[in-house]
Amino acid sequence: MSYPHVRLRRLRQSGKMRELLEEVRLSPKDLVCPVFVQEGATSRVKGESMPGFERLPIGEVVSEVGAIADLGIPAVMVFGIPSHKDDAGSSAYARDGIVQRAILEIRKGLGQKVAVMSDVCLCQYTSSGHCGLVRGDRIDNDSSLEVLARVAVSQAEAGTDVVSPSAMMDGQVRAIRQALDDAGFKDVAIMSHSAKHRSSLYSPFKDMAHSAPKFGDRKTYQLPYTNPKEAMREVETDIAEGVDIVMIKPALAYLDLIAMARSRFNIPIAAYSVSGEYALVKAAAMNGWIDEGEVTLEILTAIKRAGADMIVTYFSKIAAEALGRR
Ligand code: PBG
Ligand code: ZN
Repeated sequence: MSYPHVRLRRLRQSGKMRELLEEVRLSPKDLVCPVFVQEGATSRVKGESMPGFERLPIGEVVSEVGAIADLGIPAVMVFGIPSHKDDAGSSAYARDGIVQRAILEIRKGLGQKVAVMSDVCLCQYTSSGHCGLVRGDRIDNDSSLEVLARVAVSQAEAGTDVVSPSAMMDGQVRAIRQALDDAGFKDVAIMSHSAKHRSSLYSPFKDMAHSAPKFGDRKTYQLPYTNPKEAMREVETDIAEGVDIVMIKPALAYLDLIAMARSRFNIPIAAYSVSGEYALVKAAAMNGWIDEGEVTLEILTAIKRAGADMIVTYFSKIAAEALGRR
């Protein structure tokens, strides 16, 4: 059977029929909204390269996260900008560190109204700006694991639901799982930045989070975007180490990897639509060249269609608002 009996346009004739037949439905519930909290800030600080996105003072965290939750977005991802950096990245695991305080405030102010995810890395906290500890001129894997585990436990103590290691150190999931279990946090989940690629799309974030490396680059730990098989191995090894949710990052230019992981693994997959993806759309929208809300929904739906179960995106609020208008 084919044309003229088969007419695919038949089911596209009315808005309601098109609604009924939607195969992929984006919802605010699919989204995770990043939140930047800056230690010592007294008011909101604009992101130069991320227009519309701000670093928050601790005093505004609860109201902002409350507004995010009110839009139907179930989770936030907390990033910290500390006022003190050192070689050991010690502000990252301080009991009164900026992320720990933000988690406590959210828990106290909002209870279970929102799921809290927190970034586990060292780059905002080390003098070098690297995601691990520096030994000589190298980023040392195994000593970094101890610190990352300590960061995760300190965030668990503050009340996070999910720790999200983004350092791309080998064995980070295993080290963190072990440390959480030893400290009695068996129910704190791990969402690893499993396949995190070395990408030029992270530049706006590095401005925003003050996390650019002071020497060299991240090529010895982040994945080359030329290597899909290696990306799948990163996902595989994280699963073997006990990860709860894997992540592919960036998202839009990596839909093939999201689809590949979807077909291979029965585990929740997150996609991280990164700062550069936000900046590209935002710049065009600010010039009036595209419709920001519509383009955002199209891109996020495509990421979900590729197989992502959740999307970390700076467009979370904009997307939730645009969905609400539909
Ligand atoms: C660092 C980190 C980066 C991002 C998230 N965590 C930057 C980097 O690896 O250089 C990028 C996120 C984004 O661009 O939105 N651990
Ligand atoms: Zn890092």
